[in-house]
Parts: sequence; structure tokens; C-alpha cells
Amino acid sequence: MTRNFLSFILLFLTLTVASEAKDQRDKLIARQVAVFYPSDFDSVANMPSFALIKEFPAIGKVPDSWKLNPVFFHSGKYSCVSLPVKKGTSLYGSGETTGSLLRNGNDITLWNTDNFNYAGFDGKQLYQSHPWVLGVNVDGTAFGIIADNTWKQKLILNDSIKFISEGPAFRVIVIQKDSPQAVLTALSELVGKMDLPPLWSLGYQQCRYSYFPDSRVKQIADEFRNRKIPCDVIWFDIDYMDKFKVFTFDKNIFPDPKGLNDYLHDRSFKTIWMIDPGIKAEEGYMVYDSGSKGNHWIKDKNGKDFVGKVWPGDCKFPDFTRPQTQKWWSDFYKDFMATGIDGVWNDMNEPSVFEVDSKTMPIDNQHRGGELLPPGPHLRYHNVYGMLMIKFSREGILKVHPDKRPFILSRSGYLGSHRYGATWTGDNMASTDHLRLSIPMSLNLGLSGQFFNGADIGGFAENTTPELFGQWIALGVFYPFSRGHACKGSNDKEPWAFGPEIEKVSQMALNRRYRLLPYLYTLFQEASSTGVPVMRPIFFADIKDTTLRREEQSFLLGKDLMVIPKWAKNPAMPKGIWRNISIAGENSQNDQYQPDVKIREGAIVPVGKCIQNTTEYSTDSLTLIISTNANGFAEGRLYEDAGDGFGYKRGQYAFWTFSASTKSGVVTVKARKSEGRLSSKPKMFKVMLYTKNGVIESSWKKGPVLNIKFR
Ligand code: GLC
Repeated sequence: MTRNFLSFILLFLTLTVASEAKDQRDKLIARQVAVFYPSDFDSVANMPSFALIKEFPAIGKVPDSWKLNPVFFHSGKYSCVSLPVKKGTSLYGSGETTGSLLRNGNDITLWNTDNFNYAGFDGKQLYQSHPWVLGVNVDGTAFGIIADNTWKQKLILNDSIKFISEGPAFRVIVIQKDSPQAVLTALSELVGKMDLPPLWSLGYQQCRYSYFPDSRVKQIADEFRNRKIPCDVIWFDIDYMDKFKVFTFDKNIFPDPKGLNDYLHDRSFKTIWMIDPGIKAEEGYMVYDSGSKGNHWIKDKNGKDFVGKVWPGDCKFPDFTRPQTQKWWSDFYKDFMATGIDGVWNDMNEPSVFEVDSKTMPIDNQHRGGELLPPGPHLRYHNVYGMLMIKFSREGILKVHPDKRPFILSRSGYLGSHRYGATWTGDNMASTDHLRLSIPMSLNLGLSGQFFNGADIGGFAENTTPELFGQWIALGVFYPFSRGHACKGSNDKEPWAFGPEIEKVSQMALNRRYRLLPYLYTLFQEASSTGVPVMRPIFFADIKDTTLRREEQSFLLGKDLMVIPKWAKNPAMPKGIWRNISIAGENSQNDQYQPDVKIREGAIVPVGKCIQNTTEYSTDSLTLIISTNANGFAEGRLYEDAGDGFGYKRGQYAFWTFSASTKSGVVTVKARKSEGRLSSKPKMFKVMLYTKNGVIESSWKKGPVLNIKFR
């Protein structure tokens, strides 16, 4: 392609976006999805949208019968919108904050903040901002609201939904559907689907701030393997760097990063290494020098490079709104990844700045933008700083490994960040409160599009007691993102660090996760194609049953499994029979740590073998856990693909469908490949049939068509 042609395309795209941006009439952009504009909408101050994947053309006018109409107004310097909330409506979503699952009555500040222990701002201003609310009406019909702007804003949820922004007037997108699930699917069509992550990232991951020197890392890895505790990933926190300078290695404690990565790969571990945005302002440091040469730094209000303190001391910060800076940044990943690194951890990207009350940079700092992004103050770009960072980290990684699924973990995020990376819930604390809180936090992130998330298992800050760790790992193996982490100065928090009893608890918990991987991976596929999260609130089992709307002690994994932690007191249960199952030989009802896992009647859940890491993963031998319904029927499915790469987008995948039916007291189980071009080997199956009388186990049988009869 010639340069001229490329410039033509660019001009065309710019004009198209500009002309669509000018189409500022209220309109329908999909079935039951409408956009509403305030009369003083300024497209330059709002566009392009960071949440939406594109500008959606009108498919019609908003019908007069439209029920949920936003009212725009100004109050002093604030631009506001208000939508009425009918009595009995349950509100969810709104991203990452502390508090209960049900968000009614909450005031949340959407301003990404490094909030250690969630202690500041009453826990209502954390690392991410999702200007998004999911509402569920009394009858189970549902709606979703996106306040499509990135500026600092408050979200107030009481008898109305109010967004109060410090930026200019903004547009609002309203989704109205028959169910919350359908709203989430509509959301995913607007804000994007997440590509499937590599299978290994569904394994357990071990982190600490920080494992060093390299011999300690090797020792940790060896302990996992020697003790037969499943694990897939070892993480490298900031201490691997030379004086916390990103894209460097401390030569004394990590003299041979490539050799270390090889050592870990040889033992079937992947490695994830941290990269922060604060660049140490030190002449002679190659990232700093080239950043200064290319004029890549965010400016203060006077146009000088902004300097703020983070781990390395005085730092400057890349201005990710600039196309030149985006490219400069992504190019650093070439040499970095060449050391054999598998994934990247982008942290402190709110961006966090030390020793200032605001914990970040001044709101009048300047971003220069370029191409489609207009210049603007930090007040406008703060909430998407981390999102831009991971977007271009991902591009850099993809340039190096175009055939691998990139894995990035980001602490900060904005509605739509899931397109570029997974997240965790930041610096929690080793307390029972934070253990329990992790469930509604994770659920609401999932209900805000970011379903690949989890909390630091064990609690990050402070020492963890054996009892707390046992409870936490037993729960944490059911987080979509399952990683143990610990703060500097706190006690050792590896599964064996608390003595033999907790080591056994951890091993069992992890065996449960690894055996569940076929089901979990199928759920990831479902979530990435429909937007309906992996970890779901209990009320998803019956959206019309309002007694389930507050349940936040227990949760669903997909639609077929329910997880009830040991501390749950009288958890609200959906109607129907949910039978306790054993996944890895445990008896959760006689166990003080392992949550009960229950299967929905009518479901078939495929379970794999006990493995030590995902390089051993295979779906060639599956156990089908079955609970038939009152009609003697059950069904389930399995998704499989290469576990990495993008072949699945070209048909290299397979769906298997399982069914069980009962006739004259005989249960027949069938398995068949129902979709996809992946050629899979004939499978071996074993059935565990749960009935009111207990469990019946079959012997192993060969597929592809399975016919097991139980009498
Ligand atoms: C931040 C992160 C934490 C990490 C630490 C050191 O506090 O949230 O996970 O360990 O920085 O890099």
C-alpha cells in the first residue's frame, strides 16, 4: 500500500467519524438501544468514545413508547444527567467499588485512584471507572445506561440514576431488554468482546512483591512441582528492575532473565513481568533519554514536562494520547519479550503519583492527543490513562508474537478495558471483610464488562493467618482470574507457608479448579462471545425472583454451578434442586474450607483430569457430572480449541454437546461434536450421575457417541 493511499484512508476515517459525530440527534443504534444527546453536546470535547468500539449509525428514531428517557441539565460547573428509577428496581454494575452487590443507595466517584487497602474515600473511589449501570426491574426485564464520557464524574444511585460530570455535557446510551443477560450482550456489542485469553492464564498464578533474587524464584517454582500443588504462572514484581526503571533488569539479582524464563518454561511455568508507566527521570537511562528526545512526556499546565514521584523517585509519564508515543511505547516490548516473557503486568496506571493528596497528577496537566484524539486536560484523560497504556502494550506484544494470545493484567481501567487486558481488584487487605467483599466486587466488575478479574488471594496487605489463607484460597480458585499475592513486609503466603493442613486445603482447592478447567474454559468462550460473565450473581438463575437480588455470599459459575462459601449464612437459593457435587474427591460438607459446589438440575458439567498445570490439559478423557431434572433430562456442552493463538477465529475449535435422558428408569448419556472444524480425537468418558439417592459412577467408555445406561 502506498503512503498516499494510507493517508487517504486515514482522511476518510477521520471524516466519517467527524460526520457521524455531527449526527447528534437522539437515535436508535440497535434494537432497543438508543443514544440521547444533550442540546449543548460538543463532539470535540467528548469524541471519540473510549467505551464504544465504533460510532454506530442510526437504524431509526427513538420511538415515542421509549420508557427510559434521560434528562440533561447543568448544576453550577457540572454537567448532569438523571434517569428515573422505579421502586423495586435493583441496580448493579458501576465497576469497581466496595460495598454490597446491590448498588442502590451508593455514591461512587469515577476517578481512578490508587487506594491502598480501599481505605480512602470510603472505598467508593478505586482503581477503575465504569460509567455504567445495569438495572433490573421487578419483573426481570432490564436496562443499561452508559454515560459516554471519560471526565471525572460522580455516580449517584438512589431514586434516580445521576451522573454528575466535571466535564462538558455528554451523551447517554440506554439499553432496554428482556433480561439482564440480554443487556450484557447488548453492552458487549457496543463496548466490545474480549478475545479469548490463553488457556494458561486460567491456571493458578503465584505472585509476591517481590520474589528475588532469581534463586528464590526457582525455589518457589520447584516447591510447587515437588509438592504437587498445581500452578501455571510465576509473577515478577518491581524488584526485578534496576532501581525500578521499567524495561531494565537488576543485573545483580536477575543476571540472566532469559535463562530464568527458560528454567521456568522447562518446568511448565509461564512468567509475567511488571511494567509501570512512571519513567525514572535519569539521564543515561535509555527509556528516559529516548522519551525526552521524542518529547513523549505529559506536560504540566505551563507546558513543561510534568514530574511526579513513584517507586523510582522523580518520574515523567508517557502521554499515551499521542500516536508517536503509542508507537514508541509499544516498540519497547520487542526486546523485553525476547527474554521469553509470557505476559505483562501494567500497574500504577491510574496513574498513581506519590506524596500528593490527590494520589495522581494535577487535573490541569496537558495531554497533546493527535490523529483522532483532541488535546485535553488530565481531567479528561485520567480515567483512560491505564486503558491507553494497556492498549499499546498489547499492540507491542502482538507485534512480537502475532500468533499468540497476549496476556496483560492492568490495575486501572475504564468501561471497555476488557478488550485489552484482565484486571484484579488492587491492594486489598488480609482481612475477613476483604475476603467476603471480593465476591460482590468481582461480580459487579463482571456485570460491567470486565469479567476476567479476581482479588489477591490471601489478601495483599498485612499478615495472613493460616485460617484466613485457607478460606481465601478455597474461594479464590473460583475467581475467573486466580492469583495469590502478598505485599512486601507481610508473611510468606504461598500455599505451603502455613503448614501441612493449609497446604492440603490449598492443594485440594487447586485440584478443584484444574479439574473444572474444561467447564471454565467453555464459560470463558461464552463470556467472550456473549458478554455474559463467567462468575454471575445468584439472581441470574431466576431473574424474576426478587428474593435473590441481594445474594452476594454465594455466586454462580456459568449457569450450571453454584459456589457457596463456608461462611454463607442462609444464602438465598433459586428454585429447583441444586445438588452438592464432589469435583476432586472432596466432601465439602465435611470440610471447613472448601465451598460447597452445587450443580443445577438438568445440567451436565464436563470435568478434566487432575493436572499440575495447563501444559497437561487435555479433553481426551472427560468426566461428565450430571444431575437430571424432574423429566429425567440433562444437557451441557464443552468448548475446545488450541488454547492459544487465533486459529479459533478461523473455525479451529469444537463444541461438544452432551445430553442425558431417562426412559423406564434407564438413563442414557450421549456426547457428540456439534460444531467447529477442530478435529478432536475420540474421547473417553466417565459419568457421575447425581440423584436424590446419591451418586452413581460409570466406568470409562469410549466416544464419540456415548451410551451409558444407569438402571
Ligand atoms: C502496587 C500494586 C501491587 C504491587 C506493588 C508493587 O501496590 O497494586 O500489586 O505489588 O504496587 O509493585
